[in-house]
Amino acid sequence: MKYSLYFIIFSFFFLPDVFSQTLPYLKKQGNCTQLIINEKPFFILGGELANSSASDAEYMNGIWPKLEAMKLNTVLAPVYWELIEPKENQFDFSLVDHMIENAGKHKIKLVLLWFGSWKNSMSCYVPEWVKKDQKRFPRVKTSSGKTLEILSPFIKENWEADKKAFVALMKHIRETDKNQTVIMIQVENEIGMIENARDMSDIANKLYASEVPSELIQYILKNKKMLIPEFDQYWSKNGYKGKGTWEEVFGKDIYTEEIFQAWHFARYTEEITNAGKSVYNLPMYLNAALNSRGRKPGEYPSAGPLAHLMDIWRAAAPSIDFLSPDIYDKGFENWCTLYDRNNNPFFIPEARRGPQTAAQAFYVFGAHNTIGFSPFSIESTSDPANEPLVKTYNILYQLTPLLSEKQGKNVTAGVLFDEKEHPKKKIQLGEYVFEFAHDYTLGWSPEAKNETWPESGALIIQMAPDEFLVAGTGIVATFQTNTPEKNTAGILSIDEGSYEKGQWTPQRRLNGDENHQGRHLRIPVNQWGIQYLRLYKFFTPYSINFLIPGSSTYRWQSYILHL
Ligand code: DGJ
Repeated sequence: MKYSLYFIIFSFFFLPDVFSQTLPYLKKQGNCTQLIINEKPFFILGGELANSSASDAEYMNGIWPKLEAMKLNTVLAPVYWELIEPKENQFDFSLVDHMIENAGKHKIKLVLLWFGSWKNSMSCYVPEWVKKDQKRFPRVKTSSGKTLEILSPFIKENWEADKKAFVALMKHIRETDKNQTVIMIQVENEIGMIENARDMSDIANKLYASEVPSELIQYILKNKKMLIPEFDQYWSKNGYKGKGTWEEVFGKDIYTEEIFQAWHFARYTEEITNAGKSVYNLPMYLNAALNSRGRKPGEYPSAGPLAHLMDIWRAAAPSIDFLSPDIYDKGFENWCTLYDRNNNPFFIPEARRGPQTAAQAFYVFGAHNTIGFSPFSIESTSDPANEPLVKTYNILYQLTPLLSEKQGKNVTAGVLFDEKEHPKKKIQLGEYVFEFAHDYTLGWSPEAKNETWPESGALIIQMAPDEFLVAGTGIVATFQTNTPEKNTAGILSIDEGSYEKGQWTPQRRLNGDENHQGRHLRIPVNQWGIQYLRLYKFFTPYSINFLIPGSSTYRWQSYILHL
């Protein structure tokens, strides 16, 4: 009793305010993970700043009004090691303070991106005193002996210097960000080795020739049934060996070199992340430059937090909460699917900015239970209030309370039409199968004849066995049942409407021409909407005609079959 009284008095006077609130954290709901802020799920409806915008407070002053006009609830903003520690051990957090203060004023949350040792593979953001002292801070080498401007992950001095700066940053945020404007941290940016699959320096060669660390072997043996299939297949090719050098265990191949390099990148990143979390425990994730366009490791940034290396990163960097894709290439759905596996919390920190993001945002919230969505260089728009993405975000804000409750329970789905060649997709929810299609498949608009179609998409939430909410742009849907009786599905009603303070407010009843006389649900291209759909099942008997022999003639008899 006496001691707890002392503790209460001590806490009152000495523990910083921020400890009186819960920090943002990740929480599982059903088969997904949500970001919880102030004890409520929070969806990041965000955008990432271009790389250099946050390096000047004056420049940022011109950007804040744009971000506000776009009604973003979160901005992903870099923190540059070179600017916060221009001289060793002398920290200047004025840019971070400006960012936190202004974001707070505009009611915008921040995800800070730690541009530390690595930014798109390179080490261009390390301070001058690191750049100039290659002896103390060694770099990686290519097979031809060329030194690259990439800090070596094999050198303790490198990670200790990065760690010191990162810890100072996290401590500063803990002490100053009383309103919890900063909600999450990205550690480094698009880590990866280029030109070769791995560092070819002497120290790297020596480690490559030695045994695979037992921590990695233990991890993959323990999690054997849950490994990412690509990795499992790769390990199996060499007989699932549990001991030996990298090439003995995984085979002599460029992908073994990539696994080796990933392990060491991840150990380095773990050092930094773990130390940062121990001073201020925010969720922390990594972003990846993707292994797209058929490139080999080294042609793409090798060994980064890539989907096929998820097990390696997890084994080596348990403090990292999740890995995320930066999607700039074709195949948006495929990249999402690769990262939405094995309980990896799902988030898109970067996507190419453009009108397609309006459809992609619906898709990731519907199909992948995402924590959020954030196109890159968000401030580059010249018409912030009328960006197509803003119209999607407006709907997602309305749906946030509902969707937060429904996520992870297999009652949501998403569709995306970003290729004219695949204009139709089937979705099954409960006893119904929806056939979604691009609006232009109807052929009703003259633009349907154009060579390319604007991207379109939707998210669907099952509200009751026969009731669904469809939100999106540029789609049309028809319905079938999935019952053993093969009943026909009909439309009872479709109402368009909005959610206000979490309450559905119906507006027009959509019937007649608006639902093709009861045949479909449609949200045309260039329109955004939420429609509440009620379906019903009716019985359609199949009739079969038989030719029956009569006394003098044959006659047709129709039989109704109850199949
Ligand atoms: C991905 C990186 O993560 C960003 O910082 C930026 O460089 C974009 N690529 C491309 O501009």
